[in-house]
Amino acid sequence: YRDLRVALLGCGSVGAQVARLILEHGDELAARAGARLTLAGIAVRNIDSPRDVDLPRELFTTDAERLVQSADIVIELMGGIEPAKTLILEALQGGADVVTANKALLAAHGRELADAAEQVGAQLSYEAAVAAAIPILRPLRESLAGDHITRLLGIVNGSTNYILDRMDRFGDSAEDAMRVAAELGYLEADPTLDVEGYDAAQKATILASIAFHTEVPVEAVYREGIADITLAQIETAKQAGYVIKLLAIAERITSADGTDGVSARVYPALINRDHPLAAVHGGKNAVFVEAEAAGELMFYGAGAGGAETASAVMGDLVSAARRHVIGGPGLPGSLHAELPILPVGEVSTAY
Ligand code: NDP
Ligand code: HSE
Repeated sequence: YRDLRVALLGCGSVGAQVARLILEHGDELAARAGARLTLAGIAVRNIDSPRDVDLPRELFTTDAERLVQSADIVIELMGGIEPAKTLILEALQGGADVVTANKALLAAHGRELADAAEQVGAQLSYEAAVAAAIPILRPLRESLAGDHITRLLGIVNGSTNYILDRMDRFGDSAEDAMRVAAELGYLEADPTLDVEGYDAAQKATILASIAFHTEVPVEAVYREGIADITLAQIETAKQAGYVIKLLAIAERITSADGTDGVSARVYPALINRDHPLAAVHGGKNAVFVEAEAAGELMFYGAGAGGAETASAVMGDLVSAARRHVIGGPGLPGSLHAELPILPVGEVSTAY
């Protein structure tokens, strides 16, 4: 096999599991990828921080920039905008393929990163950035590329789904449910990102851009969180046959002046208890896709967690390694501005 050097940036919940999988499944991965994947190093802030996985100390470095320079494939799992953005750009410019799960960075600078990859024929992939373990971006980009997607309804934030589900099914208070969500590790370091819908809006941006082949800026996503939802409202919805879920919605719409475009929004919506999304409990995620020819599809599974997210990262890693072996350009850019972004107009609040 050809040897490919993999640089891992970050060794937290997700990074530690990715390191483990690369080291534990070397032979299997080599056979699947057609290349031996050598973990060249792991960049962290503090080498002495405790890790979820026992990993060789000599792999660790605090010099992420140097590590990136010698890599064929860079996996960015540090999170945040900087230094992640600069390191990814440097990796792409140096000819490496990049795998990331950084939804915040992609939502803010996805276009710039995709352009940088396209310019040098490198591959930038980020299946883990939306709904973690659930394969949703590749199906949208590849399997459904020949169809005409009309609408996506997504439960893409596990912590808010957990909180609303506990309130709905067990009558827990929002405070109690949130405390358990924190214990389960579902919440972002800044929980406002979850509760106020920012995390779901970042994911809506990524989903909508891929599904509608159009750059949908995160600023264009209407956003409302779950902070004001009360047990009384949940009970009233239940009496009427609905469940309240924080939905990320992206759809083709026609504006009042007849312009066809795309609109994206995140808010607590009423879902009919017969709808498959109503059965998405706890911290799970699901994306319900409506397409002209395929009809209705639902993608369901774990939307967070170290190993779960690592699963999607590993899929992208194998795909990047195969591309190195076979050659050829990276994934084509998907943002060809097919549709204008339209403001949210008259929309239903019940699904
Ligand atoms: P963690 O906070 O657990 O880990 C972050 C890691 O990055 C740590 O090892 C940290 O080093 C390292 N790091 C952070 N900043 C720097 C820096 N400036 N230089 C070097 N190393 C740095 O994050 P997660 O593993 O939870 O998440 C990683 C990415 O995956 C994020 O983008 C997140 O949004 C995304 N994601 C996470 C999911 C999850 O369930 N956790 C689900 C889907 C996506 P040190 O250990 O020394 O502090
Ligand atoms: N805080 C996020 C969530 C983690 O609750 O879904 C996974 O992206």
